[in-house]
Amino acid sequence: MKIYGKLAIGAAVAAALLQLVRPGIPAKSAAAEIGAPAQVRDILEKDCYSCHSDERRLAWFDQIVPGYWLVRRDILTAREHLNFSTLGSKPLATQKATLYEGVNMVQLGAMPLPRFLALHPEAKVTPEELATLKSYLAPWASVPNQAVGVSTDAQSAKHLPTAGSVGNNQPAVSLAAVQPEFNGFPFDPSFKNWKPMSFTDRGDNNTFRFVVGNEIAVRAARSGHISPWPDGARLAKIAWQQERGPDGLIYPARFLQVELMVKGARQYKNTDGWDWGRWRGEDLKPYGRDARFVDECTSCHMPVRGNDYVYTLPMTSAQVPGEEVVDTQAALPGGLPFQPLDWNAVTMFVDPQTQSMSALYGNDAAMHSVDARGSASGPTRYSPGSVLALVTWVQRDDPHWFGARIPAALQSVEFVQVEAAAKAGRYLRFSGSALAEEHIPDDAMAKRTNFLLDLAPAWLP
Ligand code: HEC
Ligand code: HEC
Repeated sequence: MKIYGKLAIGAAVAAALLQLVRPGIPAKSAAAEIGAPAQVRDILEKDCYSCHSDERRLAWFDQIVPGYWLVRRDILTAREHLNFSTLGSKPLATQKATLYEGVNMVQLGAMPLPRFLALHPEAKVTPEELATLKSYLAPWASVPNQAVGVSTDAQSAKHLPTAGSVGNNQPAVSLAAVQPEFNGFPFDPSFKNWKPMSFTDRGDNNTFRFVVGNEIAVRAARSGHISPWPDGARLAKIAWQQERGPDGLIYPARFLQVELMVKGARQYKNTDGWDWGRWRGEDLKPYGRDARFVDECTSCHMPVRGNDYVYTLPMTSAQVPGEEVVDTQAALPGGLPFQPLDWNAVTMFVDPQTQSMSALYGNDAAMHSVDARGSASGPTRYSPGSVLALVTWVQRDDPHWFGARIPAALQSVEFVQVEAAAKAGRYLRFSGSALAEEHIPDDAMAKRTNFLLDLAPAWLP
C-alpha cells in the first residue's frame, strides 16, 4: 500500500512540475482588425478568435499541461494561416476572400477545429450565425462590368468576348517554355486538350472556371471510380474574369490562371496524395515565392478530404453510392445525334435573367478551327465537318463552395453542323427534361445558328 501512496504522490508532483513547462503564447492588441460590421466581428470573436487572433482567450482547462501544449500548437499554426487581428491591412477583396474560405470551412465542418469544439461547444457556429456571415458576403451582388465602352483596361479590352468576337492580339507564349512550379512540378501543356468535367460560376470573385481532366481522370469519373482518384489522374482548372456583354449575358474575358493537380497516392503522400501547381497570367508565371505555396492549396482543399481533396462534382451519369461526389443531373442522356460531353469546350456563359449556364462544345474539326484562328480577331471560321453544341443547364448552388454555382438540370442542347466554310449550318434543338427535338421557325433558327457560330472562344495561352 505504502509503495502505491508514494507513487501517487510522485505522479502528482511530476504533474505539478510539468505545469511549469509552459512556453508562452504571445498576445498583443489588434494591429489591423478585419474590416466587417459588428455582428460579423462578434461571431468571429466568439468562434474563431481563440486561435485566429493576437488575443489570448484560453479557458482554465486549456491551461493544464499537457493539453496546453496542444492548444498552444493549434493557436500558433492557426495564426500563421489566418490572423483576424492583422487581416485588416489587406485589401478588402482579400479580406472577403478569406471570409469566404472561412464560411466554406465552417459549412464543411472543418472549422472551428472539431477537437476544439469537443471541449468548447459554445464556439460552434450556429445556423443563424452562418446565415449572417453569408448575407454579409452576398455573392453575385455585384454585376461584372459591361465590356463594351466601359472597360478602360487595355488588358481586358483585348479579350472582349462579345459582339462577333474580338480576338486576342497577344503573341501566344510558348507553352514548352513555361517554368516549373517552385515545388518542381513541371507545367503540362497538354491540359488544353483535356475534356471538361464541369464548369463553375464564382459569384465570390466574378470568375468562370473550366475544370478539365486527362484521359485517366475522365475515365475514372465516367465509371464513378473517384474515391479515391486513380494514380496518374490529372485535373486542371482554368479561370477567366467575367464580363457582361451588351446582350446582358456574362462571358469569360481576361484569362487569369491555370491550376493543375496530379494524383500519386504514394509519390505525393506528404501533400495529400496530389501534386499541386498554379500558373498565372498570360505569361503563365509559376505562383508563389517558394515551395510553401502548396500549403495554401492543401489547407483550402482540406475540407473536401472526404472526396479525395477534390471539390468538383464531375458531370456523369455514373451512380456512386454514398455522399454526392458526381453531378448526375447535369449529365446528358443517350439518344442525341452527338455526345458533346465527350468533346472539348470552346467557351461558356451565364444568363443572369434565367439563372442558367451554357457551355459551347466543339467536335475535333471545330476545335481545329478554333486553334487555327491563332491570334486573329473576328469570328471563328469553322471548317466543314465542324459541329458545335450549346448545352444549357439551370444553375444550382455548389454544395461544396458557398459562392459558386454549378450545372444542374438540363434545359436544352442545340447543335450547329457546319456544311460549308461559309456561315451556314444545319441547326437542331432538343429541349425540356426529356430533351425532345423541337422545331422552331426558320428565322429563329438562323438567329440561333449565327449566335452559336459567333461566340468567341475563351482565350487560352
Ligand atoms: C482551435 C483552434 C482553431 C479555431 C477555434 C478555429 N480555427 Fe481555423 N484553423 C486552425 C488551424 C490549426 C488551422 C491550420 C490548419 C492547417 O494546418 O491547414 C486553421 C486554418 C483555418 C483556415 C485556412 C487558412 C489558410 O488560408 O490557410 C481558415 C479559413 C480558418 N481556419 C477559418 C476559421 C474560422 C472562420 C473559424 C471560426 C469559425 C476558425 N477557423 C476557428 C485552428 C482553429
Ligand atoms: C480559397 C480556397 C482554395 C485555394 C487556396 C485553392 N483552391 Fe483549388 N479549388 C477550390 C475550389 C472551391 C474548387 C472548385 C472549383 C471552383 O469552384 O472554382 C477548386 C478546384 C481546384 C481544381 C479542380 C479539381 C477540384 O478539386 O475540384 C484544381 C486542379 C485546383 N483547385 C488546384 C489548386 C491549386 C494548385 C491550388 C494552390 C496553388 C489551389 N487549388 C488552391 C478552392 C481553393
